[in-house]
Amino acid sequence: MNSGYFITVEGPEGAGKTTILNMLTEQLQADGRKVIQTREPGGIEIAEQIRKVILDKENTAMDSRTEALLYAAARRQHLVEKVKPALEQGYIILCDRFIDSSLAYQGYARGLGIEEVYSINSFAIEGMMPKLTLFFDIDPVLGLERINSNKGREVNRLDLEGIQFHHKVREGYHLLLEKFPERIVKIDAAYSIEDVFNEAYLKVNELLSSN
Ligand code: TYD
Repeated sequence: MNSGYFITVEGPEGAGKTTILNMLTEQLQADGRKVIQTREPGGIEIAEQIRKVILDKENTAMDSRTEALLYAAARRQHLVEKVKPALEQGYIILCDRFIDSSLAYQGYARGLGIEEVYSINSFAIEGMMPKLTLFFDIDPVLGLERINSNKGREVNRLDLEGIQFHHKVREGYHLLLEKFPERIVKIDAAYSIEDVFNEAYLKVNELLSSN
């Protein structure tokens, strides 16, 4: 049995996920908790190598199913090499993106089908679903504005998709909210960083004190 807590963070581009995650990690560590912050695709060497292939702007010929399979492959490796062992040692894992990204981006926005993408991911994760998923919701127009004003951020292959794609991603997340209401909580990411952080911290603490 795992004794840790597997928590994932999701949302469209520019929702501020990474900033909030950094703040959450710092706060939980200050509270005396054992925390590991990680990300997908990546988080360990093999998955970082797969990440380079997926996000390379030169790879314009990449087929959508290939893309979905590569994300699932990176997920599998990251899960067995990093997430599972840490959960067994009682860590809180804060993971920047997980299966819901594949369901929203590949399943819904790319049109592969949420059920189809769920099934290849079931093979990859063998039931290791997060206990809590924080979904940072933002209008993609505002999200992309935030990205463009953040000059230091690297632009990847998916950032280059048109605004319609990013609207679909958001719609996809909303469908997932309806599908998994017991696991996913929506946080309005249009508010200030402090407000968004406070709400995220509250939700995490609710989980930590519930068992
Ligand atoms: P990243 O630079 O980590 O973006 P962000 O800061 O927005 O998290 O790049 C990850 C990109 O990969 C992002 O555009 C979302 C996309 N993605 C998928 O399409 N499917 C997936 O399963 C995952 C994990 C990410």
